[in-house]
Amino acid sequence: NKHQLLSVDQFTRESVEELFRVADQMQPIARRQKVSRVLEGAVLGNLFFEASTRTRVSFGAAFCRLGGSVCDTTGFTFSSMAKGESIYDTSRVMSGYVDAMVIRHPEKGSVAEFAAATNIPVVNGGDGAGEHPSQALLDLYTILTEFSRLGKLLDGAHIVMAGDLKYGRTVHSLIKLLALYRGMKFTLVSPPGLEMPDYLLEQASRNGHVIEQTHDLAAGLKGADVVYATRVQKERFSGENLEGYTADFQVNRAIVDACCGPDTIVMHPLPRDSREGANDLSTDLNHDPRLAIFRQTDNGIPVRMAIFAVLMGVESLVQHSLRDVTW
Ligand code: CP
Repeated sequence: NKHQLLSVDQFTRESVEELFRVADQMQPIARRQKVSRVLEGAVLGNLFFEASTRTRVSFGAAFCRLGGSVCDTTGFTFSSMAKGESIYDTSRVMSGYVDAMVIRHPEKGSVAEFAAATNIPVVNGGDGAGEHPSQALLDLYTILTEFSRLGKLLDGAHIVMAGDLKYGRTVHSLIKLLALYRGMKFTLVSPPGLEMPDYLLEQASRNGHVIEQTHDLAAGLKGADVVYATRVQKERFSGENLEGYTADFQVNRAIVDACCGPDTIVMHPLPRDSREGANDLSTDLNHDPRLAIFRQTDNGIPVRMAIFAVLMGVESLVQHSLRDVTW
């Protein structure tokens, strides 16, 4: 359905690059040099039944920067789902109030249930351990932007994904998007028990891509063009324990200096866990130009504006709608 973004499975390489051309047109708005009102009068329902900073706020800001307005609800306690209301009823009710919805929900497949109950555009803002398509799109947009700056092609690149690959929905979406390119090499580094699910390995290995799996981070990082670290999703664990997850899995300055080159890009969807004992991505890389995490978050705005423009059918109006800022 062209009015819904539920999974990256709906994209071809051509359609994803078309979306990115719209995102490029949004950059003057994201950089606050121009404004646009193409979504004036439209209202977005931002329904987040799980915690979020980036996805919720950047989707909201993206809609507002195109002239629309946003109604938010965060957590089950602030919606009538706390009283037992169904996904179907919630979605039908919201359809009468708003013109598009972004939904984050802890159950895999639940956002598709919301979408099935409505005709308004629905965006999956993360469904449990399923997918996080808009994050993967902004990650791919970031990788292409970084590679363009470095004079590199994505076809044939070596992508390392490290951390919790079992429950990390961002890597589930990203590996499928990257598999749209040619001759990729994926090295998947995870603690024992947190490996990438088999159905994704099977899907990503089509078209001759090479996939290697290891529990040895240092060995996995060798020759990486991109290192994509992920947070351990303890909140989704069902019986796993972290005994195998030691400091050996931390992406930090020492291991990046030892194993990667000057043009390696280090990414993470964020949030990274900065609490005592957490070890997904060290802050000691914060001033290293290879660390692209805040370029990723910045790209969330133009990419999410492009998603709305395409889903709401106004992408051809964007270029002529741009006006200078007056503030
Ligand atoms: N990357 C991401 O989804 O961040 P939030 O959980 O803050 O939205």
